[in-house]
Amino acid sequence: MSRPRPIVTIDGPAGAGKSTVSRALADRLGFVYLDTGAIYRTVALAADDEGLGEAIDRSDLAPGASPAEIARLEAIAAGLAIGFEDGGRRVRLAGRDVSAEIRRPEVGQRASKVSAIPEVRRALLDLQRRIAAGGGVVAEGRDVGTVVFPDAEVKFFLTAAPLVRAERRVGDLRERGIPADVDQVLAEIEARDARDSKRAVAPLACPVDAVTIDSSGLDAHAVVARMEEVLTSRKNA
Ligand code: DC
Repeated sequence: MSRPRPIVTIDGPAGAGKSTVSRALADRLGFVYLDTGAIYRTVALAADDEGLGEAIDRSDLAPGASPAEIARLEAIAAGLAIGFEDGGRRVRLAGRDVSAEIRRPEVGQRASKVSAIPEVRRALLDLQRRIAAGGGVVAEGRDVGTVVFPDAEVKFFLTAAPLVRAERRVGDLRERGIPADVDQVLAEIEARDARDSKRAVAPLACPVDAVTIDSSGLDAHAVVARMEEVLTSRKNA
């Protein structure tokens, strides 16, 4: 290992339980939790604040966002004034607490669209790598094991059946007081899966050297226990 402490990556589709598991694993290890989805969500929010919400909505359609709009989105990503607090649980955009706002389903859809723009992804690579520079990080996302941290010491791919993922997401949203319907959330999850997996740059994919865990029949505790087993076996190898 080249770093004093490892980088652990957890990739997978929306609603597989990545956030709960990544936070819990980071707490158990005393590592920093890096929520890369929150970064894309914050870009979507910052862009909407600047009147680019519609440009994002058009971005995956022909004729799509214009080159000038893409350049503005890229600039927003490159200069993103994002701050993480409370072990990565709270997110600030230019000082404003946006932790709740970025979780809204429409921000998730726009995050998925903005994340398909290569210029935006490139602009965010540096930010993610700076946060993880010293190691001791659990990074969660769609491409953290494949593109952002290809040399991560331990990689996981966490997945679950689409209906299980939709039911979990509805539970999360309702807990936060946001009304949600399973059929609608399932349709959104399927749309996001398709977009995240088919985009040309850094699509959602299982890293070749990842350990895959299907969480359909497992609770978060069991998934974290399985990950800790893998980490221990790697340390002893
Ligand atoms: O994990 P999440 O639902 O918060 O992510 C929101 C969107 O951001 C997701 O639809 C795809 C995108 N994303 C990405 O493209 N790459 C990442 N590493 C993380 C998220």
